[in-house]
Amino acid sequence: MDTNQIIQQIQVSGIRRFDEAISDVPNVIKLTVGEPDLPTPEHVKKAGIQAIRDDWTHYSPLMGFSALQRAASQYFHQKYGLNYAPSEIIATVGATEAVATSLLTILNPGDSVLLPTPAYTSYEPIVQMAHANLIPIDTTNTGYKLTPAALQQVIQNHAGKPLKALILNYPTNPTGVTYTQAKLTALLAVIKRANLYVISDEIYSELTYEQPHIAFGTLYPEKTITINGLSKSHAMTGWRLGFIMAPQALINEMKKTHQYLVTSTSSISQAAGIEALTHGLDDGVKMRAIYQERRDYLVKRLSEIGINYVYPTGAFYIFAQVPTDFDGNSWQFATRLAQKAQIAVIPGSSFGASGEGWFRISYAASQSALRESMNRLALWRAQNQEKK
Ligand SMILES: Cc1ncc(COP(=O)(O)O)c(C=O)c1O
Repeated sequence: MDTNQIIQQIQVSGIRRFDEAISDVPNVIKLTVGEPDLPTPEHVKKAGIQAIRDDWTHYSPLMGFSALQRAASQYFHQKYGLNYAPSEIIATVGATEAVATSLLTILNPGDSVLLPTPAYTSYEPIVQMAHANLIPIDTTNTGYKLTPAALQQVIQNHAGKPLKALILNYPTNPTGVTYTQAKLTALLAVIKRANLYVISDEIYSELTYEQPHIAFGTLYPEKTITINGLSKSHAMTGWRLGFIMAPQALINEMKKTHQYLVTSTSSISQAAGIEALTHGLDDGVKMRAIYQERRDYLVKRLSEIGINYVYPTGAFYIFAQVPTDFDGNSWQFATRLAQKAQIAVIPGSSFGASGEGWFRISYAASQSALRESMNRLALWRAQNQEKK
């Protein structure tokens, strides 16, 4: 086929492929896609409806309405102490476009990008599209967190190569772990010595259960590209509204990438975003309490059933281990679980080779769905153990 060779080699993400593959299983409970089941808050929906009525249906400025930039600047300052001026913020088509615009702006062909793994699936394809290389850093032996020693080691192993950036994502998809200020500060020393950009994807920043979220941009403002958005904090995945926040010189470059990729994000979504950021400061806090309850329930049930997991302190995922008595890989396990127990989860291999042997449960699902899925899992495990 006479099309771009990089695109030919890229696949639709394992998350989507698996989700589609098991969609036909009758009566299956889906704990697959990372999509809040909760509705967008009513006052935010109303602002979107009003925007249509008021004819906010034309192009917005490229970087977003100035009222939205101002609202985002204030919100992220109030929430996490970030100090981005409104002009240092671009409204994007979800965090997804924020990731793409950031990477496509900073990378030259042949550059390398470091990524702790297992990781969210959207980073590597964009790095490839930029003709750059992704260097995974396996975190399975360090509690699924990047350590200064591991980072230092990888940097040393690639001495003399053009190491450009480190992608951080915390709270982390798919493991649900997050970092304390002390851990981030320890990483910062290594990052600074190597003069790396940090692309910090903090889309789950409102969902931390045990500790406050520390924004990397407060520690390393000069080279951090902060990515956030309203998809998870305000249950607004379908509105497609995210943000890139970075020093002005970088933003000026990114503005061009953003323009030629998308022009601007939806004006209607921006109107809803202004409402969410100015009058919805606590929307995410209310949702967090609901997710925390679900997390507590799931870890209790998984422990009772005898499934190992990484204890999640953020996001809405649990990374759990394929039982050692199962003869097969994580894709086969998840397929069997869907077919035999009618529970759909994501195979760990979707998040990179280091995720093999594990699976991701999304608890952005109703309490009754979670209860029923755990009952089914318990029954299935008990039946399988009886057979042995
Ligand atoms: C870590 C991470 N970053 C970015 C995104 C994409 O967010 P958005 O829907 O705002 O594009 C997701 C969605 O699941 C995610 O898990």
